[in-house]
Amino acid sequence: MTLREQWENHAAQWLAWARAPGHDSFWRHHGEQFSRLLPAPGALTLDIGCGEGRLSRQLKAAGHAVVGVDASPTLIAAARSADPSIAVIRADAAALPLSDACADLVIAFMSLQDVDAMPDAVREVARVLRPGGRFCIAIVHPLNSAGRFDGLAPDAPFVMSGSYLESFIYSDAIERDGFSMTFHSAHRPLQSYVVALEEAGFLIEALREPSIPEAAIAHDSSRRWQRVPLFLHLRCLRP
Ligand SMILES: C[S@@+](CC[C@H](N)C(=O)[O-])C[C@H]1O[C@@H](n2cnc3c(N)ncnc32)[C@H](O)[C@@H]1O
Repeated sequence: MTLREQWENHAAQWLAWARAPGHDSFWRHHGEQFSRLLPAPGALTLDIGCGEGRLSRQLKAAGHAVVGVDASPTLIAAARSADPSIAVIRADAAALPLSDACADLVIAFMSLQDVDAMPDAVREVARVLRPGGRFCIAIVHPLNSAGRFDGLAPDAPFVMSGSYLESFIYSDAIERDGFSMTFHSAHRPLQSYVVALEEAGFLIEALREPSIPEAAIAHDSSRRWQRVPLFLHLRCLRP
């Protein structure tokens, strides 16, 4: 089964998880950390892998003219009903039904690690961005997806038993505070993303490895993520 199909299969779980107030890292710290990387609104911002649309709605509130794109029919329907004024398109990120150079900002927030044909999606982003446009990305940090903590203690060893350099598909079933979600994603080494960006003609302008800020620590086990990065943020220029 493709990652795209897995996301549609788990759409109901994701809707509950993503929308629960204060539950997902997006609400606790990640959304705000990512927003620091974004340029000012221009004529058109695309939110690729928009899911049920929480980031699209925040972008709209911050003055962006947003169009959301996602492959999941269930999540697209949820985004549409949450704010019918935001256009959302059901499409694969690797084949965008959009014209060349139509956007000045493309965002892929926590979606590229879930896209089957990641290099094709990056090429599509380069095509739909005008020269001078920016591509802002958040992904599961490749170090995070390459291993796991051997325990819940803040100083638990981080163990990598397989290969960091090989790409592989994995699923991560998480139960927390009454919600459960199985994430189906690809681990790819950092180099895979950088080569895809390089081949599509992007220049990397900024790179961040945000950790969980002290104010957002809810459980002692979260402190493990103050030693190992959860996420990777990139801002890229399309020259
Ligand atoms: C972790 S969710 C993130 C959703 C949203 N950005 C958010 O933060 O709420 C990953 C999203 O990527 C979407 N996705 C997976 N494969 C895709 C593809 N090939 N094309 C477009 N979207 C895809 C999934 O349907 C899902 O909505």
